Amino acid sequence: MRQANIYIDHQALQYNLNRVRQLAPAAEIVSMVKANAYGHGISESLPALSSTDAFGVACLEEALQIRELGYKHPITLVEGVFSEDEMYVAVRHQLEVVVHHWQQLEWLQQHKQPYIAKGLKVWVKLNSGMNRLGFRFQDIIDIIHALQADGFNCVLTMHFANADVRDHPLNQQQINEFLQVKASCEPILASCCNSAALFQWPELHFDFVRPGIMLYGASPFADQSVTALDLKPVMTFSAAIIALNTVQAGESIGYGSTFTATQDMEIAIVSIGYGDGYPRTFFSQNYVSIQNQPCRVIGRVSMDMIAVEVTGLNVTAGTSVELWGKNRLVDDVAMANGTIGYELLCRLSSRPVRQQQLITDQ
Ligand SMILES: Cc1ncc(COP(=O)(O)O)c(C=O)c1O
Repeated sequence: MRQANIYIDHQALQYNLNRVRQLAPAAEIVSMVKANAYGHGISESLPALSSTDAFGVACLEEALQIRELGYKHPITLVEGVFSEDEMYVAVRHQLEVVVHHWQQLEWLQQHKQPYIAKGLKVWVKLNSGMNRLGFRFQDIIDIIHALQADGFNCVLTMHFANADVRDHPLNQQQINEFLQVKASCEPILASCCNSAALFQWPELHFDFVRPGIMLYGASPFADQSVTALDLKPVMTFSAAIIALNTVQAGESIGYGSTFTATQDMEIAIVSIGYGDGYPRTFFSQNYVSIQNQPCRVIGRVSMDMIAVEVTGLNVTAGTSVELWGKNRLVDDVAMANGTIGYELLCRLSSRPVRQQQLITDQ
């Protein structure tokens, strides 16, 4: 059987969740598990997150998957519902909605009675400068007052556009608008922190924090490693060597013959490729980790295979290769490929087998 595996380290996931508790002890934690728990797998990851206060997902289908697995936690649909029919299903399954445009408010009103009777909170989104979703400053106070008068329990929410860049001028504008709306709508619950904001602004944790990437042990910052943030990588993406070749000086390797050996080299062929979600970027120099040694990826990444230089290493067919994990951080692979850890994790294909595993530190 082809060895292409994704191991989910439950101890690491719990460690990172505890890190959130340490950093935001007074807030409830809405663990963001959208996009299949950032590529880690909902069913493989949720057992380690069961002590969270709530989950956050992008759509009804993701929420229903969690309910089908038997989790009774509050779940927030962070983009709300996409039609009135979905509102009915949301209430039935005890799902909390974000409202960010007028039509969603109408749909909410149509389901007002059961929504309130089930004790569901409604998350009202402020567009404070991100300009993706949310009501404008000049509208939202009236909207919240009307919802409160109707008996809804509201959470004022927003999302930072630049939480990873502390001194970005938009941050202060977003914070000011949020605080002004909050002050005009008291008493009201509030939530504005994703992973980066949670680190940056302890004074803005309020009632709910919404960590995503930090739970999975990747960094929300380009200039701070997970080690510096005291987080542990959760995913190990690994494959195995399936062939070994000696390539002579002057011979090329792989599609397009983009790499020509200048001296004799030992090459391992590893059964992983872009069909699994390993990045194929033209300008990048990728490395994998074999026996804790960084090894260069040579030539083009194919759909199912990569070539890796293993000159001087004692490897055989079957030797395990870490594409990313505890030795080769996903953030470093992302940086080398001009992207972010979030993207590499989320775009893994369904081909590698996801497994829960307790991996002890090496
Ligand atoms: C509304 C909202 N809150 C929180 C998060 C979590 O962000 P992060 O993964 O950066 O912690 C996201 C992710 O995109 C989001 O859309």
